[in-house]
Amino acid sequence: MTTFRQAAVESAREAGAFLKERLHADHRIDFKGEINLVTEADRTSEEIITSRIQKLFPDHDVMAEESTNITRGAEYRWIIDPLDGTTNYAHGYPLFCVSIALQRMGEVILGVIYDPMFDELFVAERGEGAFLQGREIHVSTTERLIEGLVATGFPYDVRENCRDTLAYFNEMIPKVQAIRRIGSAALDLAYVAVGRFDGFWELRLQPWDTAAGWLMVEEAGGVVTDLNGKPYSLESPSIVASNAMIHEELMDVLDQASSMI
Ligand code: IPD
Ligand code: CA
Ligand code: CA
Repeated sequence: MTTFRQAAVESAREAGAFLKERLHADHRIDFKGEINLVTEADRTSEEIITSRIQKLFPDHDVMAEESTNITRGAEYRWIIDPLDGTTNYAHGYPLFCVSIALQRMGEVILGVIYDPMFDELFVAERGEGAFLQGREIHVSTTERLIEGLVATGFPYDVRENCRDTLAYFNEMIPKVQAIRRIGSAALDLAYVAVGRFDGFWELRLQPWDTAAGWLMVEEAGGVVTDLNGKPYSLESPSIVASNAMIHEELMDVLDQASSMI
């Protein structure tokens, strides 16, 4: 596992350093959808990560957001978001990260999230805990939702499909201390793991957005489900993560909103 961890950490650091250096450069922006951007930096970051991973582990499968999809039914599969927070990045807003996860026979066993601007490296290994800069991290101890700082995000189809997103958001506002929308789902999950956020929910994320952060939250003592309270999977159409203590309250508010959609 150490080799896997080392490969993920080194790739994330190298890609992160590249992204940091290019942040304020002129970006070539292409559109995957009306508000779904991709820059040349996303693609180069992906190339940095996948070339290293494929060289070290040529038999492994790879699912990376921008182009690489190698599916051979291998025992191991890497799931990579080379730049989580592209809209922030394209605007020079310095909140983004690299997210790399490794699955073994379908189970996520390793998650690495690297924020190059704060030089914060989050690492989780199944059964071994979650760590920030090598120090073990834990979810917050906030017991009541009203005292919680929670985060959410808006999916890329929000223009066509904003009813559900807004219903959850509206219902949550008066029930929490404050809500943040930072623009990087992987960092949202890392921040739940380290106790900066007490909870997080979002609809219609992709496996590369959540794979590493999901493990991070669980290894830090938190809980991750879908909006129906079922255990989270990478195919789930929604995610709800929390410090465990406020999960029930968080779910109650989201359920209340669901009943009005
Ligand atoms: C996006 C970010 C954002 C979330 C979007 C994601 P990207 O990923 O994680 O916070 O709200 O749904 O797609 O496109 O920047 O990698
Ligand atoms: Ca993403
Ligand atoms: Ca991305």
